[in-house]
Amino acid sequence: MAWRENINRGWRYRPDDISGSEKVEFDDKTWEKICLPHTNKLFPHNGFDDKEYQIVSWYRKKVAVPLRAVDKRVFLDFDGVMTACTVYVNGVKAADEHKGGYIPFSVELTGLVEPGTEALIAVQVDSNERPDIPPFGYMVDYLTFGGIYRDVYLRVCAKSFISDVFAWGVDVLTSPKLSANISIDNPAAGQTVSISLSELSGREIASATCEADAGDCLISLNDLADINLWSIESPYLYRVEVKLFSADEEVLDSYSFKFGFRKVEFCKDGAFRLNGKALKLRGLNRSQAYPFIGQAAPKRLQVQDADILKYDLALNLMRTSHCPQSPHFLDRCDEIGLLVFEELPGWQHIGDSAWKEVSKADLTAMIKRDRNRPSIILWGVRINESQDDHDFYTETNALAHKLDPTRQTGGVRCIRDSECLEDVFTYNDFVDPPNPPVYIPYMISEFMGHMFPTKTWDCEDRKLEHAMRHAEIQSKQSLDSSIAGAIGWCAFDYNTHASFGSGDRICYHGVSDIFRLPKWAAYGYSSQADPKDKVVLEIATGWTVGDRAAGGVDPIVVFSNCESIKVYIGDELRGEFTPSSDEYGGLPHPPFVIRGLGFLWGEYWQDLAVEGYISGKCVIKKMMASDSQPKRLDVWLDSNELIADGQDMTWLKFRIVDKYDNPLPYISEIVTITTNGPVSVIGTNPFITQGGQGALFVKSAEFAGDAEVKITTSRLGEYVLHLKVLPVSE
Ligand code: GAL
Repeated sequence: MAWRENINRGWRYRPDDISGSEKVEFDDKTWEKICLPHTNKLFPHNGFDDKEYQIVSWYRKKVAVPLRAVDKRVFLDFDGVMTACTVYVNGVKAADEHKGGYIPFSVELTGLVEPGTEALIAVQVDSNERPDIPPFGYMVDYLTFGGIYRDVYLRVCAKSFISDVFAWGVDVLTSPKLSANISIDNPAAGQTVSISLSELSGREIASATCEADAGDCLISLNDLADINLWSIESPYLYRVEVKLFSADEEVLDSYSFKFGFRKVEFCKDGAFRLNGKALKLRGLNRSQAYPFIGQAAPKRLQVQDADILKYDLALNLMRTSHCPQSPHFLDRCDEIGLLVFEELPGWQHIGDSAWKEVSKADLTAMIKRDRNRPSIILWGVRINESQDDHDFYTETNALAHKLDPTRQTGGVRCIRDSECLEDVFTYNDFVDPPNPPVYIPYMISEFMGHMFPTKTWDCEDRKLEHAMRHAEIQSKQSLDSSIAGAIGWCAFDYNTHASFGSGDRICYHGVSDIFRLPKWAAYGYSSQADPKDKVVLEIATGWTVGDRAAGGVDPIVVFSNCESIKVYIGDELRGEFTPSSDEYGGLPHPPFVIRGLGFLWGEYWQDLAVEGYISGKCVIKKMMASDSQPKRLDVWLDSNELIADGQDMTWLKFRIVDKYDNPLPYISEIVTITTNGPVSVIGTNPFITQGGQGALFVKSAEFAGDAEVKITTSRLGEYVLHLKVLPVSE
């Protein structure tokens, strides 16, 4: 059976290109000791130059090749190295340079390593924005960073092994079956494969076998009568396991993955249907970059981003703008029922024929990697916002259909009369109200973004306008049955190149900031949650008389999924209100827009209280202080446990709040963090709050134990948080 071991730990790193680094005898003792995922450079959260990560660097590691590798084949599996790399083993170049940072690749070590000995792996990583590799060649509105930024594995397998499995559900709504294409590398006479479908608890539901000596086989499991469907409400997953047997029935290899039965379709009547039921898609674009660490976010942070999109922002869809994203992130989308529109790397520019070959290789690897995932509903087969290129896009579209005949294609464009070779017209529509579709099925793949960048410390008018524009466009698209859905730009603020952004190399386009802390626009989304899952009530005002143009707070906007709200100023009930369905009726839970309660300049300012009601019962109450005084630093760790793998991380987030825990965006503090125990801080420390808030990461060391994080401020006191670093389970 194939044996695979994560080898993220025990690497040495050097941020420059030293000749001889691939040699076994090279002395790397002075190199930095690191664990993967790794960014080739740590940054402040803004104001840095991409040239700093555009370097050639080296990674080295001694790997114990197990005795089990005798007479077997040995591989290194890389989940992603930014942007190109050459792998050397025991001083020998093991493969041609791999180009492209977003897709996995394997390097065969068989014959280059000796089982039972240590092998020296050296990886030369070129993180320059090379014009021969997508997305580069012109401008790109995001940063790509550098390094071995995803996981790496050592794999030992038999001479014949399972090289690929593509499984799909057939007739899932009527008489469900599972079909799978299985590919065997180096097949031999008499070999067979088996496939089994089991509950995640282990109970087998069905199995089948077939001959495999031709290398490729198609196998089906029929009569799967009582299958639970995968949906966004109930993302039911099964396990599919494929085994390869030799002629004398020895198990040579096995491969297993989670699988969900569902039917997805962008239909000719304009609707998107999941399992036959129309579902209006409401999504946001997500960049896979983070502050300080670039793209090198470990599993915990990836999982949390998916949770933020699904649970905090109540989305049913996200777009992986503009690249295949981390397998950990996508695993979580499968688990929690978040739909995904995944696209190939690129931004506006199409290169020469060699560039296009790399692009097609990216597309192929992306689809092969992710086509068993129930969450993926659409492949993006055009370079985001590029010009038409009939031949190239005929090829990418055909390639996607060949690799995955079960899913439709889209291709994100900003030119309305561009040629549509794909199944779904996915269009970046930056106007309000949205344009009518030019072709159906039709989905808005971006809106807002650069049309209205907004910072957490912008004045109230702007933050409110930002929130209302998102709400308005989502509402309007929902009312138009010819539009399948809309994906706003974007979920999180992100670092960018000098030609974009607000002058500090950030595009403030997120409904949340770069630290994943919500702006008011985020509340327009989170309040769309079903109140049975979560009651939401957020007041979009800083409750102060002098921040808006001309003063006052008219209108007061409350984002809530309650049926009605009562508003009190001081002790006085000023009215009971219902959602503004006339203006935002397309939303499941329109905001409450309350006009005419405004204060006059100079009037005595009192506290605000808003109560939310469902079925006549008060289910939530929020208050805002009239004194605007910072009372404390609200500070928390998103997780109180880390794994001692030297790279696990959680967010340490903080906000300056008033006596009712509302953020005070114009108050600043210097926040200093010290730690005790097996953790360290990643990020700018001390940190000056921006918009009254900020965040850093707390990272585990490679040993377990109790840890303490102490947060000190100049006038809001000192806070101590505790966390546990747990041993890595074998
Ligand atoms: C789009 C582009 C995105 C981002 C956005 C900002 O044109 O596709 O990547 O730059 O604009 O609004």
